[in-house]
Amino acid sequence: MDNRPIGFFDSGLGGLTCIPYLMDALPTERIIYFGDTARTPYGSKAVSTIRAFSFEISDFLVESGVKMIVIACNTVSSTCIDDLRKRHPSTPILGIISPAAHTTANICGPENRIGVIGTKATIQSNAYRTKILGYNRELDIAQTACPALVPLIEEGIILHEIMDLSIRYYLDHFISYNAIDTLVLGCTHYPLIRNNIQKLYPNLRIVDPSQEILRSIGDALARYGIFAASAGAEHTFYASDLSENFVNMIRRIFESTNPNIVFKTIDAETLRRGRNGANHGY
Ligand code: DGL
Repeated sequence: MDNRPIGFFDSGLGGLTCIPYLMDALPTERIIYFGDTARTPYGSKAVSTIRAFSFEISDFLVESGVKMIVIACNTVSSTCIDDLRKRHPSTPILGIISPAAHTTANICGPENRIGVIGTKATIQSNAYRTKILGYNRELDIAQTACPALVPLIEEGIILHEIMDLSIRYYLDHFISYNAIDTLVLGCTHYPLIRNNIQKLYPNLRIVDPSQEILRSIGDALARYGIFAASAGAEHTFYASDLSENFVNMIRRIFESTNPNIVFKTIDAETLRRGRNGANHGY
């Protein structure tokens, strides 16, 4: 048993889409979440920049005493997970790509046409394609980057025709040309527009990695024997820029359960210097 919190992080509020599934299934677990809202989006940045930001955040989470880190970000998972594991060898680190790739390979056969959407970095890394084909070489996969969607979601522009038009801009041709029937939402921001996508393409079967990662979290907690024995005092949500959207999104996620939530800002400079003034040296 281990009552320390689980650390989650993302470039912004996208990774929050994992939290409701976790709270439903494992209500005694306590969370520390970090959203790098001041520097989002990551998906159009160089891998070296994404790696440097991820090192700062993972150092911060380890210094904060987490028992495990969940990379609630496809962009970081697809580009830096091996580097993060090397940097923190004694902390279990889970990425979001493998569980969803596994589910996709399980539910699809050669008769299906799989589409993967994500940020530029995620799509360029080929992480989903490699993992899914690793499970079944006969599967057919097309992928495309949708870089304008994350900034709109971070701005809270969801229930608006601008969002629907942006989705159609990226997906109309992609879905019809490739005859896609199964779509992997390869960015943790996209579950927030899942209803928009489903309404525009009602016959699509959608795979949501934010939901799929739950099983890996449960498995890892069991494997290391580190389930929390009793409900923790509070959940802490850090942001590098505590925007109204970020706070509102969290309040909405927890509105029915109403647990003790603490909001804190860690500015990018403090993060860069390290919590205790140490330099990260990447
Ligand atoms: N939500 C993230 C992902 O899953 C990052 C989006 C971004 O910052 O570009 O890829």
